[in-house]
Amino acid sequence: MNLIKLIEFNKLGDDRGSLISLEGNLNIPFEIRRVYYIFGTKENISRGFHAHKDLQQVAICVKGSCRFILDNGILRQSVILDKPNVGLYIDSMKWREMHNFSDDCVLMVLASHQYDESDYIRNYDDFITLSVK
Ligand code: TYD
Repeated sequence: MNLIKLIEFNKLGDDRGSLISLEGNLNIPFEIRRVYYIFGTKENISRGFHAHKDLQQVAICVKGSCRFILDNGILRQSVILDKPNVGLYIDSMKWREMHNFSDDCVLMVLASHQYDESDYIRNYDDFITLSVK
């Protein structure tokens, strides 16, 4: 089973450079209700370490690179994001960790819902308990 679902976006390029358009329910498989981005991540810092009960996300490294780990409670798989035209689809009930941020990394995340702390599972043991149900 592959937990790593990558979406390749069409590059709308011309002699001036490149452009990518992201549209909810078209090349992003849900309605986009929130966008956030992570940048200026300090050396040797890892982030994430949570899952969501009911949230879909697409993470795109629009500059630089970082490594994602996705875990469904049984499998744990890793992928490097380093292309602005590739998004990682992250479904609900997937534990995620982000590691190895490059100095220049700008990680943009599109989400299917607004921020809701009650949707987070921040404890790995709780995640395992909930994911085997
Ligand atoms: P956090 O979830 O710890 O980030 P990560 O999982 O990427 O390591 O979020 C950091 C802080 O930002 C935390 O206090 C929650 C807040 N936050 C929002 O207010 N809105 C958001 O959309 C996100 C993603 C986080």
